[in-house]
Amino acid sequence: MLVKDKKFKRYISESALKQRIEELGRQLSEDYAGKNPLFIAVLNGAFMFAADLMREIDIPSEISFIKFTSYHNMHSTGVVDQIIGIEEDLRERHVVVIEDIVDTGITMTEVLAEIRRYHPASVEVVALLTKPKALQRPVSIKYTGFEIEPKFVVGYGLDYDGYGRNLCEILILDEPEQSDENGDWGTE
Ligand code: IMP
Repeated sequence: MLVKDKKFKRYISESALKQRIEELGRQLSEDYAGKNPLFIAVLNGAFMFAADLMREIDIPSEISFIKFTSYHNMHSTGVVDQIIGIEEDLRERHVVVIEDIVDTGITMTEVLAEIRRYHPASVEVVALLTKPKALQRPVSIKYTGFEIEPKFVVGYGLDYDGYGRNLCEILILDEPEQSDENGDWGTE
């Protein structure tokens, strides 16, 4: 399947995503019962995952969204410049960050550092996808949907240069990755 100008192949089906997200929702609902958690979804990539995950949460909870400006390309993640949207009073709250994918872990390290400045009672991460072999920072992800190989994926919120976010399943690059110049997939 072509997304913009690159060939991708099927990787994680819609039904596999649904099943795993149901499990994550059940687990989070058990772990956070009585804690009134505040879920914070990282835009843009986590929008679809967050929407489906929240439908599986059956305890009182709140959701909010943050967005950061950063530079990415196909092989590296740039510095996170700024995080927009932490408006709630996070003090004493149990925060769960919802992220689409943790690749090098650089982004999540900075997001967590920023959230911790507000002194929440606890912070954990739920990431739909992680690439353990690409990890460069020791970031602890308590809830992971799928551990995947360190290759470029698209769909279900994740984009390639802005495209592919609307796909209902996850696709993986089906050709040798090209140099950085061609691989820009934009910012969050
Ligand atoms: P990290 O800072 O390297 O962990 O990268 C995190 C961000 O890079 C994610 O939130 C995504 O926006 C983006 N990203 C990393 N890997 C992929 C991928 O395979 N496809 C699409 N976006 C990705």
